[in-house]
Amino acid sequence: MINNFYYHTPTELVFGKDVINYLPEVIKRYGKNVLLTYGGGSIKKIGLYDKIKELLKDFNVIELAGIEPNPKYETSVVEGARLCKEHHIDVILAVGGGSVVDCSKAISVCAKYDGEGWDLISGKVKAKESIPLVDILTLSATGSEYDSGCVITNISKNDKRGYMDDIMFPKVSLLDPTYTFSVNKWQTACGTADAINHLLEQYFAYPNNSFNDGLLIEGMKTLMKNVKIALEESNNYDARSELMYLCTLACNGILSNGSGSSGWPMHSIEHALSGYFDITHGAGLAIITPRWMKEILSNRTLERFVTLGIRLFEFDSNMDKEEMANKVIDNFYQFFLSIGIPMHLKELGVDENRIEEMAKHILQHDSTLGEFMYVELDEAALIRILKTSM
Ligand code: NZQ
Ligand code: ZN
Repeated sequence: MINNFYYHTPTELVFGKDVINYLPEVIKRYGKNVLLTYGGGSIKKIGLYDKIKELLKDFNVIELAGIEPNPKYETSVVEGARLCKEHHIDVILAVGGGSVVDCSKAISVCAKYDGEGWDLISGKVKAKESIPLVDILTLSATGSEYDSGCVITNISKNDKRGYMDDIMFPKVSLLDPTYTFSVNKWQTACGTADAINHLLEQYFAYPNNSFNDGLLIEGMKTLMKNVKIALEESNNYDARSELMYLCTLACNGILSNGSGSSGWPMHSIEHALSGYFDITHGAGLAIITPRWMKEILSNRTLERFVTLGIRLFEFDSNMDKEEMANKVIDNFYQFFLSIGIPMHLKELGVDENRIEEMAKHILQHDSTLGEFMYVELDEAALIRILKTSM
């Protein structure tokens, strides 16, 4: 059965080699004054920065460089909003991975707000307006290019917040897989782990249906196959293009229309980890995934694992169900390990002594936990997941 649902994505996707050539006509729709936002310099190394400057030579381009992975409110968002106000920016052009796109979304609303921007991000005040946002994606991972969310860290509060609002959907996302050829093995693996986790977060939900299961599981298969190819051959267009397209779809919700909500519990846990320890999002998720699965495995969830076992890993359907569920969990562990992710949080610098504090933080700050969760997690369960992930 397909449950009632509301689905809306206004973002235009333009996908393929050289789609950057559409940039001037896309930007022209919104105005002359452009805020170009980017990260630590990868776009300069691959020649993308020069290409953009050439294409936008007739526009007034102001720059915000140096946006950090796990973008920070106090630095990048505040500075970006200030630049928008000072230069009467008409459109923001975000060029980079999820961090740059997320930061630019936050800037797009904070620039149109006179109070403290964190009020918007923390959900205290509802944003009324935003500056149009266009992006050129350079890393396949988060799906920020096709959703209305951003994830911003307030360093002083150790608070990494997911913030969603329809007014932050990008207007246009230009997706050229060749710009991801230069992504290193670590980010390729972590980005793919992130997208696989997005599919799992939607898969472990009730009610669910066989059609959505098919979309989500086929998505996982595609990601698992192509990441191995991209890790071997960085410039393999076929693999990079499949990774890019799947990552774009994986966080948008379109693959689980009509299914129940899951609460995205692994993301709640990971956001606390990167809020406290600034770890790479996809790595944190990969480590948590098998431990969370072990925690929620019960008679109620068993069939979800069995369907994954049969449809994703092609296990023999006559296998004992509990044994199959445990094999599914082990397969995910081994898969993440095989793409180069260390499967213990301590290897990423997480301090075990702060687990209790993080568990409390998650329960206090994450509104998606609780009644919308597929399997509710209390403080003791969060502590168990974090401890076994160490
Ligand atoms: O800063 P530069 O120099 O650009 O380098 C980046 C950065 O160091 C590099 N990189 C990006 N494109 C590259 C490249 N290096 C070489 N060649 C390229 N073409 O990769 C590093 C990581 O970039 P980042 O943008 O941080 O990675 P990702 O795309 O994984 O984004 C992670 C952030 O997105 C949030 C995460 O929490 C995290 O803060 N998320 C956003 C979501 C959303 N908006 O829907 C959902 C996700 O679940 C996630 O929470
Ligand atoms: Zn994610």
